[in-house]
Amino acid sequence: MLGIIKNNRSNIVMENYFYFICLESNIALLREEIKLFAPELKPSFSKKNFLTYKASQLPDYDFAFALEWGLNNDVSQESIENKLKCTQSEKIPEGAPSRAYLKIAEACQKYEINDPSLHWIEFGSAPGGASYYLCQNFHQVTGVDPAEMSPIVLNHEKFLHIKKPIQNLRPSDFDFKGYQFITSDLNLNPKQAIKEVLRCSQFFRSIQGIFMTVKIVKKDHVKHIPKFCQSFRNAGFKHIQKCQLPSHKQEFLIYASKQ
Ligand SMILES: C[S@@+](CC[C@H](N)C(=O)[O-])C[C@H]1O[C@@H](n2cnc3c(N)ncnc32)[C@H](O)[C@@H]1O
Repeated sequence: MLGIIKNNRSNIVMENYFYFICLESNIALLREEIKLFAPELKPSFSKKNFLTYKASQLPDYDFAFALEWGLNNDVSQESIENKLKCTQSEKIPEGAPSRAYLKIAEACQKYEINDPSLHWIEFGSAPGGASYYLCQNFHQVTGVDPAEMSPIVLNHEKFLHIKKPIQNLRPSDFDFKGYQFITSDLNLNPKQAIKEVLRCSQFFRSIQGIFMTVKIVKKDHVKHIPKFCQSFRNAGFKHIQKCQLPSHKQEFLIYASKQ
């Protein structure tokens, strides 16, 4: 049991407890993020999936590697487990070609992207878990990947495959240019992946938003997170949000939107 956390009211400067719920596999990345971008938070106790810090006020920073965070004076093991369960509501259906189905399902649910008339393009689409979800829920999906797509996606009436690396894409590769949403799950280093995705986003005038999975495999790369977000602002995306999804591995999501 974690027991009950209470404010230490005997201090002259009153300190609050902040809790973070995170994926166990990404706890080192979250610690690094807090150290770099919210140094005013002072570590308190921690457990699997759970960190606490003390500070006088909530930091003005959104964390990429926390599922949830906030001020709390009363956190029990049971309430943490309930919070973790709530964030893991999506299930991978039989037949989905990969676990990436969950990542896009969770992202669409979190940001309420559910207009069935949307046209999507996915960069890094093979074998097709995410495209499978998109075909089931939206109007049309184009997947870009030099690797093979699973037949269940390849033969789907809503799906089109462009079997090329993103670096080779040119506007002439697309007859249709009315895509509204991009999702990217490329196995490339984040800097190159973001550069290529933003380059290709310029081919389409009607882009409203981008879901960008950013893979951070080394603690040392956490320091670049603000720079990655800034690239989207520089490309004209007004709202940049970042978050950890329950199905993420060593990665996080940037959601860049124009409205
Ligand atoms: C994590 S997997 C994508 C999983 C996929 N989103 C799904 O739903 O099944 C990463 C993919 O990126 C692709 N990839 C790597 N480099 C690429 C490039 N330069 N251009 C396009 N795709 C690339 C790989 O072939 C691989 O299929």
